[in-house]
Amino acid sequence: MTLAADKLISQLQWRYAVKKFDPQQRVDDTAWQSLEQSLVLSASSFGLQPWRFDVITDPQTRATLPSMSWGQTQVRDASHVVVFSIRTPMTVADIDRFISRTSELHQTPVSTLAGYRKLMVGSLESLQSDGHLEEWAARQVYLALGGFLTAAAVLGVDTCPMEGIDPDKYDQLLELPALGYKTVVVCVAGVRAPDDPYATKPKVRYKAEEVVFRR
Ligand SMILES: Cc1cc2nc3c(=O)[nH]c(=O)nc-3n(C[C@H](O)[C@H](O)[C@H](O)COP(=O)(O)O)c2cc1C
Repeated sequence: MTLAADKLISQLQWRYAVKKFDPQQRVDDTAWQSLEQSLVLSASSFGLQPWRFDVITDPQTRATLPSMSWGQTQVRDASHVVVFSIRTPMTVADIDRFISRTSELHQTPVSTLAGYRKLMVGSLESLQSDGHLEEWAARQVYLALGGFLTAAAVLGVDTCPMEGIDPDKYDQLLELPALGYKTVVVCVAGVRAPDDPYATKPKVRYKAEEVVFRR
């Protein structure tokens, strides 16, 4: 085991959705680099990675973010704001980019990946015709968000995932539509303020026996 089982749980108990960050403190650079890598290493359906992650650290830019985040101040006071966005429209060109990258890293000709490519193109087309393509991409982004929250907790980095945002305003700020992306969700990382009352509230979770069934 690389991490003691009880340590994992104590870190997951330690983490909470921080409401008040200490604006004077920032996430340590080494920890931050690992967290960025944790985003890169996220799993996704077919491995297609239909996402990008924009990291905002500039204090002046962060100061403008509460106005596009339901007035929430975490986006201003946390040191790092990650904007999770989906690729849209996702096309066959994105599948070819992935095939080309696989071919390079696995040192195999593109032709050997033709079957896999066909499977992915078929799936893309059916998601598209059902109108579910963006939702599919968003599901992948949420996996990256979940991994990020856990990785941060393990490293002792405070976070707050945030859907309470105006995605269109984030899109405009980051000029995402022109790049072929669309904001889905934000997650901030920083250092909790010592007087954040939410830090000491007991977690509200259903009992394990009500949600986990061993069969
Ligand atoms: C996708 C997602 C969006 C959330 N959006 C917000 C938000 O906009 N603002 C906020 O303060 N908390 C937000 N939360 C935090 C949840 O309210 C919080 O995770 C939940 O109440 C459980 O509490 P805990 O994370 O502190 O254990 C969000 C959580 C998730 C997973």
